[in-house]
Amino acid sequence: MTVIADYEKRTARSREHFVAAGAMIPAGATRSLNSWPPHPVYLESGAGMLVTDVDGNTYRDFLANYTALPLGYADQDVTRALAEQLTSGTAHSFSRTQEKALAELIVARVPSIERIRFTGSGTESVMFALRLAKAFTGRPAVAKAEGGYHGTTDEVMISVRPPADKAGAAHAPNSVAEMAGIPESRLHDTIVLPFNDIDASTAVLRANADRLAALVLEPVLGVGGMIPADRAYLAAMRAVCDELGIVLVFDEVITLRLAPGGGQEHYGVTPDLTTMGKIVGGGLPIGAYGGRADIMSLLEPRGGTDVYDARSGGPALYQGGTFTGNALSLAAGLTTMRKLDAAAIADLNAHGELLRTRVAKAASGSLVPLTVTGVGSLFNLHVGVTDVRVFRDVRGVDAAKQHRLFLALLNRGAIIAPRGMGCVSTCTTETDIDFFAAAVAESLDAITAED
Ligand SMILES: Cc1ncc(COP(=O)(O)O)c(C=O)c1O
Repeated sequence: MTVIADYEKRTARSREHFVAAGAMIPAGATRSLNSWPPHPVYLESGAGMLVTDVDGNTYRDFLANYTALPLGYADQDVTRALAEQLTSGTAHSFSRTQEKALAELIVARVPSIERIRFTGSGTESVMFALRLAKAFTGRPAVAKAEGGYHGTTDEVMISVRPPADKAGAAHAPNSVAEMAGIPESRLHDTIVLPFNDIDASTAVLRANADRLAALVLEPVLGVGGMIPADRAYLAAMRAVCDELGIVLVFDEVITLRLAPGGGQEHYGVTPDLTTMGKIVGGGLPIGAYGGRADIMSLLEPRGGTDVYDARSGGPALYQGGTFTGNALSLAAGLTTMRKLDAAAIADLNAHGELLRTRVAKAASGSLVPLTVTGVGSLFNLHVGVTDVRVFRDVRGVDAAKQHRLFLALLNRGAIIAPRGMGCVSTCTTETDIDFFAAAVAESLDAITAED
């Protein structure tokens, strides 16, 4: 049986749901990523590494909601904290004391974060942090890396996965809108750098210095293919930003899990502002941004008590969000972050290393080349390429085979992202890792046999 025929047979109920949902929900899924051909899988429940779909298939989930669940599904302590919180309300009219507790935990772990605010998502965190940088510097534009993903606002939905015919020269990439609906005018104020290329990135920053408020960088390109930054690159960008008065923002929505102090501790490079999300909410919606006290102070009323009242000495930067700092996200986040201490993170990273090594070894005999990128507990499988060091290397991926690998892994009971991204969680065991390595090798063989 072919990979696709096998998949269709195993997921017939998912297909029925997809067809019915598709009549109302474009692509049958609210999150674009959750829809793929021939039809997506709909999940019903999860516990630890294991999830079950509507057809009754079980899977080991090596994606953990795109790295947002470092303890896996339905962790007992998180569930207990949520149950307790539920009895006293979910999202209240005024602030709750857990906000301060989660702030204390993060400020204690990440030295560059002197002050912090919570938001509803990673997207919002980046949006607020970049506005803050623009207010602080009085400049209108931001820079980001080609291949960098920072959520879905127009400002950063630029050159995330630009097509080769529009992307321009490697050393001076074009700003390419990711999709229709992003105005042409937006491209002028989002400047794109080649990730991990010190000289070219420095030249682009210098050429735009008087307009640039911020440079936002992921310490590891996540959506771009889980490609780690070179430490020297991050250090060089730090130095150039200092010289040119540009606010350096590290987007640690994914990389905060690399060390107690996040990717910035792992690399030993300190940003001015940091954006966060995912693990900070322990499986519930959240985002956060924080950093230098002098920059964050623009969020304080500068006189009077009413942040809307311009007469009180100039309005502070306004941050809204009905569900920001809601009690459930704070309860889950606080419990998760307490459990994810230095020892847990070290363990997680060791398991990540084991997974990358074992998968690469298991796949080495395959006729289809496979490259495994990543760092710490993060990984990405790239089908059809022998090396991935810079973002444009990902273009060599055989997209059709990559998709069949994704489906073939689902057939064997393993979940990763369609584009190959994954992670380990604290509940991932060596047995899970060996299972996964074997599943990858078998899947590659199944794909080869079909060609
Ligand atoms: C690096 C990075 N920044 C920002 C975001 C956006 O976060 P959210 O999906 O919570 O809006 C993501 C989401 O995957 C991300 O990976």
